[in-house]
Amino acid sequence: MKILVTGGAGFIGGNFIRLFLNEKPDGQVVNLDKLTYAGNLESLKDLESDPRYRFVKGDICDEVLVGELMKDNIDVVVHFAAESHVDRSIKDPHVFLYTNILGTHNLLNCARDAGIPRFVNVSTDEVYGSLGPTGYFTEESPIQPNSPYSASKTSADLFCRAFFETYSFPVITTRCCNNYGPYQFPEKLIPFFITNLMDDQPVPIYGDGLNIRDWIHVEDHNRALMAVIEKGKPGEVYNIGSRQEKTNMEITEILLEEMGKPDSLKKYVQDRLGHDRRYAIDPEKLEKELGWKPQKSFEQGIKDAVAWYRANEGWWRPLKEKVST
Ligand SMILES: NC(=O)c1ccc[n+]([C@@H]2O[C@H](COP(=O)([O-])OP(=O)(O)OC[C@H]3O[C@@H](n4cnc5c(N)ncnc54)[C@H](O)[C@@H]3O)[C@@H](O)[C@H]2O)c1
Repeated sequence: MKILVTGGAGFIGGNFIRLFLNEKPDGQVVNLDKLTYAGNLESLKDLESDPRYRFVKGDICDEVLVGELMKDNIDVVVHFAAESHVDRSIKDPHVFLYTNILGTHNLLNCARDAGIPRFVNVSTDEVYGSLGPTGYFTEESPIQPNSPYSASKTSADLFCRAFFETYSFPVITTRCCNNYGPYQFPEKLIPFFITNLMDDQPVPIYGDGLNIRDWIHVEDHNRALMAVIEKGKPGEVYNIGSRQEKTNMEITEILLEEMGKPDSLKKYVQDRLGHDRRYAIDPEKLEKELGWKPQKSFEQGIKDAVAWYRANEGWWRPLKEKVST
């Protein structure tokens, strides 16, 4: 199987490529990535000499380049490339519209022209907006994005839906909860907190710290994507979640405890604009129809993540310096 991965120099896409090539000895990967601030080829250094892997630097909005790549006997497109940081979308939404909406549309168009038999659009639970204290998002929940980031991902999802309904183009959308794990850019909550605590720096807690997210280890997310590639039904949406809801405060306390750091490193800051209160996913459809289940408990996953960031300072320090200057 030959797959075209977009955004494979980022966090989830990079972990996906490694998993895919480990599990599929005769698999091949073409990784198309623009290398924005979030893309980092250091994460895939071990694959550089693997003949099954090819990196192409480029923009998913480039019609000519994407058109050529799609014609290279691609069996599946797995589309991760995106602007992915909510706080950045609040400061400047424009690039989110460019990459997340126009880029996804360009990929769909070129994939349809080339007759690609399967396209997986990697989306987010944030398209559903915010939940009250009870209940879960299902694939039938209303789409109610609240941030420029989630509005752009929603638009991409709707173009995928339209390509299936209008052209019978075989696209599947997945909507996953918050990920954590190795190679996550240190501006995102868990690696940001781990790396701050390693340096005895305070960790900023938005508002009252009681916003709730469902947290999944990146490997569990990627195993769900493998199941969707193999058994997912075109035109469907699959929610991916791990039933491990945590408040930001709980995460902070787990990390302080795990890393042996004092409570005085908690620093309360003004809440994020439009901050969704709670996201929680019901992954039953994926579990029942495709036989997937998350494997990693949050407790184990967070221990592994702390150990990884401790062992890989050479990977994250230059990135953290780049965004803080
Ligand atoms: N991180 C999460 O918790 C999470 C949860 C659910 C869904 N998602 C979705 O999963 C996908 C991957 O997320 P991530 O956390 O790995 O993101 P990331 O920011 O770590 O990586 C994004 C990658 O896309 C590349 N890219 C950006 N614009 C591009 C363009 N125009 N052309 C080509 N490449 C471009 C970047 O260089 C980078 O390598 C995104 O679509 C995101 O919306 C993420």
